[in-house]
Amino acid sequence: MKRTESIDYFRSLLKTNDVLLAPMAGVTDAAFRHVCAKNGAHVMFTEMVSAKGMVYGNKNTGKLLYLGPGENNTAVQIFGEDETFLSRAVGEYLNDSAFAFIDINMGCPVKKVTSNGEGSALLRDTEKLYRVAKSVVDASDKPVSAKIRLGIDGRINACENVQALEEAGVGMVTVHGRTAEMFYSGHADYSQISLAVKTAKKIPVIANGDVGDYSGYLKIMADTEAAGAMIGRAAMGNPFVFSEIATLKNGEAYIPPTNDEKLTTALEHFEFLLKYKGEHTACSEFRRHFCYYTKGMPGGAALRSQISSYERAEQFTDLIKSLTDRFKNEESVCPAEP
Ligand SMILES: Cc1cc2nc3c(=O)[nH]c(=O)nc-3n(C[C@H](O)[C@H](O)[C@H](O)COP(=O)(O)O)c2cc1C
Repeated sequence: MKRTESIDYFRSLLKTNDVLLAPMAGVTDAAFRHVCAKNGAHVMFTEMVSAKGMVYGNKNTGKLLYLGPGENNTAVQIFGEDETFLSRAVGEYLNDSAFAFIDINMGCPVKKVTSNGEGSALLRDTEKLYRVAKSVVDASDKPVSAKIRLGIDGRINACENVQALEEAGVGMVTVHGRTAEMFYSGHADYSQISLAVKTAKKIPVIANGDVGDYSGYLKIMADTEAAGAMIGRAAMGNPFVFSEIATLKNGEAYIPPTNDEKLTTALEHFEFLLKYKGEHTACSEFRRHFCYYTKGMPGGAALRSQISSYERAEQFTDLIKSLTDRFKNEESVCPAEP
């Protein structure tokens, strides 16, 4: 795809959707994206998928590449460091897929990934990062974006890397305001993201890190002047964060979901998971989501310990349904405080 077309694509996408759901391994599968989309997320990313895994036909890769109905603006995030595998994955698997665009993972700090020279290890060597990005751009019929961190090995070089990515033909870059060593500790540094935003000549830069609600969105946008904000952890158990931001941005009053509404969403999430991953995997993966959905609910801690041994779908559905009814009754008798 031509460079100008790719930039135009991202600029026009961001005009109406400047809050993006982050890629999160083990979290942002089709079921999670389904509940986020229902609650106002329009631009979303898959979990990271290995380019090598794709080319070798790894059996887990198929599930990672599943796109739910109505997902029009979802990107597939790939990772790898070998240009041949990356371009083969794009040419042989992704060009014909329904993904809207392709995102390159250049920020994963996990040792299993960086020890192969993938993820945030690419931040070490800007020339290598350029070649990797170019191999994806050249092979792709779709727009290509990339996601980076501020730097690695105690060196901050996000500006240099954003420039290289732009030169390689990447049409949008997301900057997570932490270095690789920080993993998720400390705070995202918005002043460094802001420098990266200013470095980009034409491409939009998305700011990422620690946005949890509307005021967080306003802060990251004001501090960085980025073209959009990406939200990760705050959406776990709280896909409503997207409608919160959209509603308040429109100047309308936002009414947070009640506990029974949260649980109705949790059930929908679980049922989606069940359909596409089967009972065993759905139960094991949903335990984590259930903990997030019930955070702050009365009796939440006991519930979380109760479900730790759940292995059958009906245990989850029965529990969620009975809790939903209980909260519905309680909330109709005694409405939640504003
Ligand atoms: C469980 C988990 C999995 C993640 N997986 C990915 C991933 O696959 N690809 C990626 O680029 N970033 C990944 N990230 C990083 C997030 O996309 C995001 O950059 C980070 O969480 C900071 O944003 P936040 O403060 O809004 O959560 C992951 C983060 C978490 C917590």
